[in-house]
Amino acid sequence: MEHTTEELQEKIKALKEKLSVTVVSHFYQRDEVFEMGDITGDSLELAKKTMADDSEFVVFCGVAFMGESVKVLSPEKRVVMPKLACCSMARMIDTLYYDDSVKAMEKVGIAKEDILPITYINSNADVKAKVGEMGGMVCTSSNAKVIITSALKEGKKILFVPDRCLGQNIANQMGLKSAVIGIDEDLASADIICYDGFCSVHQLFTLDDITFYRKKFPGIKIAVHPECDPALCDKADFVGSTSQLIKYIKELPEEQKVAVGTEFNLVNRLRPKNTYVLSSTKPECPTMNETTLEDLYLTLKAIDDGAPVNEVKIDENTQRWAKIALERMMAL
Ligand code: 13P
Ligand code: SF4
Repeated sequence: MEHTTEELQEKIKALKEKLSVTVVSHFYQRDEVFEMGDITGDSLELAKKTMADDSEFVVFCGVAFMGESVKVLSPEKRVVMPKLACCSMARMIDTLYYDDSVKAMEKVGIAKEDILPITYINSNADVKAKVGEMGGMVCTSSNAKVIITSALKEGKKILFVPDRCLGQNIANQMGLKSAVIGIDEDLASADIICYDGFCSVHQLFTLDDITFYRKKFPGIKIAVHPECDPALCDKADFVGSTSQLIKYIKELPEEQKVAVGTEFNLVNRLRPKNTYVLSSTKPECPTMNETTLEDLYLTLKAIDDGAPVNEVKIDENTQRWAKIALERMMAL
């Protein structure tokens, strides 16, 4: 028998009361799933807040690398995911492609010991582990600038994976030179050498969209996530991570129009009026949207039945080095 949204939400609430569980939801989740979150936030906030939580089970509504990060940081927790959905950007790199990137740098005369790798949190645990083993660390879009500033103090070349746009945007903000493996010939003279990965959602926003909105509403503000192309970020009034975008938009005067270049579900619930999605297509993250209320209910029910499903498991070596890479970020 099919349940209505309200019925499912009631069942979920009852199971949450009965069990030692914490439901964690990223801002990009569908509204009805987001509303069920005990902990909500962007990727950095979720990692920090979940670490401090003491329930036996974490039920993570997000994409796989986020649930994995919780398990890596708190191996004693049992982390289950209503859907083991994988972020398309995280899928663009694996350990072999990571090794090839290091080799591409060695080929242009940069010794391995002179490379400091940084991986965006949007990567799988095995890539984070590779980075940790090479002395590197993780960053999120909220703290990328702080992490890169600290890394540069070591006087090394930065290998930034997997998001080309975030790497290039931070380099531009800091007045540094960036180059992209496989695209730019001159890697050796760059400070930040980026892997050529990208977000399939944030690449939907274009310069034409900015032109369209500026023409339609003169004086409108344009706010975008740093996973957007650098050419777009260059023309925006504000560039910031999910939590930084939320703060910027909430602090705008009520009558100020703003067009926002980030995921649909978040933009849609940001502000009742004068807020537009910076695209003519619906920029929903398909993997974030895979998790339904029914999935969440069935996941909680499986815990109640004593047979949890979709539990995140990470092998010991990956766990050890990925944790080191994540903890180096947390320490900063
Ligand atoms: P945040 O770090 O801003 O939560 O971003 C995660 C993400 O996947 C953005 O596309
Ligand atoms: Fe990954 Fe992009 Fe979805 Fe974020 S919006 S989870 S980077 S595919």
